[in-house]
Parts: sequence; structure tokens; C-alpha cells
Amino acid sequence: MSRYVLITSDQDFEKRARQAASGLHGTFHAIAADYLPPGPDNLLQVLSGDPVEVILLGPGLPIDDSIRLASLFDLEYPEISVVLVTDSEEEVALPAMRAGIRDLLHPGSNTDSIRKLLERASLAAAGRRRGLGNSVEGQPRSGRIIAVMSPKGGVGKTTITTNLAVGLGKEAPMGVVVVDLDLQFGDVASGLMLDPERTLADAVVGAAVQDSVVLKSYLTLHPSGIYALCAPLRPTDADQISGEQVGRLLSQLANEFQYVVVDSAPGLGEHVLATLELATDAVWVCGMDIPSIRGFVPDLASSLNWTLCLRIGTSSSTSRTGALG
Ligand SMILES: Nc1ncnc2c1ncn2[C@@H]1O[C@H](COP(=O)(O)OP(=O)(O)OP(=O)(O)O)[C@@H](O)[C@H]1O
Ligand SMILES: [Mg+2]
Repeated sequence: MSRYVLITSDQDFEKRARQAASGLHGTFHAIAADYLPPGPDNLLQVLSGDPVEVILLGPGLPIDDSIRLASLFDLEYPEISVVLVTDSEEEVALPAMRAGIRDLLHPGSNTDSIRKLLERASLAAAGRRRGLGNSVEGQPRSGRIIAVMSPKGGVGKTTITTNLAVGLGKEAPMGVVVVDLDLQFGDVASGLMLDPERTLADAVVGAAVQDSVVLKSYLTLHPSGIYALCAPLRPTDADQISGEQVGRLLSQLANEFQYVVVDSAPGLGEHVLATLELATDAVWVCGMDIPSIRGFVPDLASSLNWTLCLRIGTSSSTSRTGALG
């Protein structure tokens, strides 16, 4: 669970920041003060509970002290993202960068901008934590790629994908991304009630391909603490996306996230095959009809951990899904 800490004497800013954090996964703690402690430990000692992920040094604090404290956090607690709230962004930008400050925010920012900044800072903190904890010198870290697939449509792939992702998100908060590879008619966004600003069509071209920080900024955060890369908004965009691009995208995401859960279109199209080449696990979903079960082809990729899910019944009131291991 993320934890946001704000230090400021500005009550109006505190109110907006509190509102912004209320829409996010995590707790918010405000300290009303116009001065800063000498070091990170003096601050962290008074904060019990979940580990701190983001510290907002709010309006009203001395800038020099804020930059000094931020540089100490950068040295001693690099996994914590420090954000400086200031109206002299241009003058402060260079010293802030040198002190490892994650981002700058104008004190007049509205709730929506504060929320987006908190999301970014929180994602950066999660990435740093994973990097610090798991990376082996010289080798990229690799998360599990779980492909959810079926030969037929309408059998429950998206329902299973989204539930699996939210469930894994409880084990690994901010460590799960769900990718909608049903590129023409994907409905992960509607299943999770998301309204994405960027989609998979943006993520496989341009700067996102070279830079994982850009790629991560294209993800949409779900209130449960998982990220989603939703299908393109126009079905025609799917034609522009190749299997090779999908493979590169999944590798990039697996380097950043503990779990990459992939929803797919029915059948074994180019994008599903590209996913299977990289997947560590596969969930094959089918109905109880014989053609559906005969479509199950575990030898397709024998190195994978397979789970077969049978959808029992035909309506949501009478059905359930059983995992056969
Ligand atoms: N276990 C289940 N029991 C009953 N209904 C279910 C079950 N799982 C999903 N459904 C319902 O079946 C419908 C299709 O589910 P879903 O969209 O998850 O399938 P899908 O395989 O992703 O479909 P598509 O191939 O069109 O993408 C939805 O209305 C969903 O609510
Ligand atoms: Mg679907």
C-alpha cells in the first residue's frame, strides 16, 4: 500500500492534496509545519504504519532546507519519491534535479493535476523499490507474463484477466499491469471502469519503445493499485500493431512489473502467438462444449505453466469458473 506524506502550513493546498490522494490506492498523512526536520530519520520516526512512498514538500517551507532534505532522502532512501511544491519552478529546477527531487508542482495546481503527479511519483517509487530489491547486477529483472486465451469468444477471458490482475495486485501493489491485446474490441477498460488517456497504440511507437519511463506514463492506474494498458480506441488501429511490437512491449513491461497479465482476442492470431513466445504462464479458458475443450492445445507451448478454466453454465446467475490446475 502506498503512503503519501505532505508537509506544509498551507491548509488550502493540504485540502486539495488530500482530495487528490483520496482517489488513489494508499493512505495520506499531512504534517502541518513551516519548517523541516534535520534528516530523513527524524521524519520517518514519527510516521508509523505503511512504508512511505511519496513525500510532498509543500508550500511555505524554506526552499534551501527542502532541497537539502531531498538530497539526504536521495542518498539514504532512494526508493522514496520526493516532490517539491514551488512557484519558482524555473529557478529551482536545476538544484532540484541535482538533489534527486522527482517532480515539481505549482502550489496553485488543481486536484486532478495533484492526483496525476502522485500517481507518477508512486509509480516511480514502486519501480525503484523493485529495482533495488530484485535486480541482479547487469541483468534486467523479469516479471511473470500470464497469457489468458481461448479459441472461442465470449467465454470469460476478460472477466478472468481483470479479476486475476486485481487479485495479484493485492499481493504486489503497483506491481501488476494488465495488457489488453484484444486489439480490435478489447474491453478491459470498460471491465475496470477506466477512461484511458493513452492506449496500446501509443505504447508501441515513438519514445515509449526506447524509454520505459515514457511507457509507464502511458499506463492507466486502477483504484485497486494495478496498472492497465488498454486496447486502442479505434478498431482500425489494430492493423498497425505487429506481433514483433507486442513482443517488445511485453518484454519492456516484464522488466518493470512483477506480473504482466495479458487479455487476448479469441483464437491464435499473430498477437496471441507473440505473447505465448514470452509467456511464463497461460490460462486457457473454455466453455463446457466439446468443440471448445477440443481446442485446448497445451503442447502449443509445452514449457508454460498451463491452467485450464472451464466456464460452467451459461448465465452469470448459474455459472462459475473452475481451475483444473
Ligand atoms: N464464469 C462466468 N459465468 C457466467 N458468466 C460469465 C462468467 N465469466 C464471464 N461471464 C460473462 O460472460 C460474458 C463474456 O465474458 P468476457 O467478456 O469476460 O468474455 P471474453 O472471452 O473476454 O469475450 P470476448 O471473446 O468477446 O472478448 C460477460 O457478459 C461476462 O459477464
Ligand atoms: Mg474479452
